Amino acid sequence: MYQIYIIATVIAVIHGAVDFQKHFKVCNRNSLELNDCMVEAVRDGILAMADGIEELRIPPIDPYHQKELKVEYKNNQISAKIVTKDIYVAGLKSSVVKDARVRADEDSLRIEIDLFSPTVFIKGEYEGEGQYNALKVAADGEFNTTMTDLVYTWKLEGVPEKNGSDTYIRIKSFYMRPDVGNMITNFFNNNPSTRELTDLGTRFMNNNWRLLYRELLPFAQSNWDKIGTRVANKIFLKVKYDDIFPVD
Ligand SMILES: *[C@@H]1O[C@H](CO)[C@@H](O)[C@H](O)[C@H]1NC(C)=O
Ligand SMILES: *[C@@H]1O[C@H](CO)[C@@H](O)[C@H](O)[C@H]1NC(C)=O
Repeated sequence: MYQIYIIATVIAVIHGAVDFQKHFKVCNRNSLELNDCMVEAVRDGILAMADGIEELRIPPIDPYHQKELKVEYKNNQISAKIVTKDIYVAGLKSSVVKDARVRADEDSLRIEIDLFSPTVFIKGEYEGEGQYNALKVAADGEFNTTMTDLVYTWKLEGVPEKNGSDTYIRIKSFYMRPDVGNMITNFFNNNPSTRELTDLGTRFMNNNWRLLYRELLPFAQSNWDKIGTRVANKIFLKVKYDDIFPVD
């Protein structure tokens, strides 16, 4: 059974005949209800993509797995160089899609989706070095972050691209800037002799998370831009523009 599925998938991919409607709700680009349709399409789409869609080679998005992310941070007193690995981000599928705005024109596509996520939980491994004035500490272990009450808007921009006689959309950018209600991070330090210091650092971080979040946002945003653009293009470069947003 599984083999048949694989063969069917291979054939579908070779022929470029991806059954978009099987996975996603289709919204007519000239409909007056385009935005309302898009709210439902994204709501269903997030659930459809949560475990990934093999046929479109879309990875699972909830939890989303990222192999590695390097973070460097420096201000007057504090500096930190941290490599995080095997990161899991969970919570997207319990999001509420509040609103959507789509402009699907001949020469461009702009999509904005307003979302609310009650909780996003991130966990992974870390290894790094932090410095507070003259005090230096190296640590490694597990970390996790719990963010609550996230309010944000996904902004995607794309341009049409011809491939043979068919037109696709290439998503050029993905932008979001979540407002976060609260954020708590735990670092477990494998090294007992410096644990007190990392606990102190963690407390400092949690007491000042708003400032840190603001300063780390540019990192996070360039990371999200890459991920969002890549995942969106799994759909948009594979399914014809007219099949995603048909013109009547
Ligand atoms: C054009 O389509 C072919 C066949 O579907 C595909 O292999 C190729 O990657 C596409 N080119 C671009 C630039 O997307
Ligand atoms: C988060 O990390 C802390 C410190 O390592 C740990 O005690 C706690 O169990 C973790 N929470 C979850 C939900 O994994």
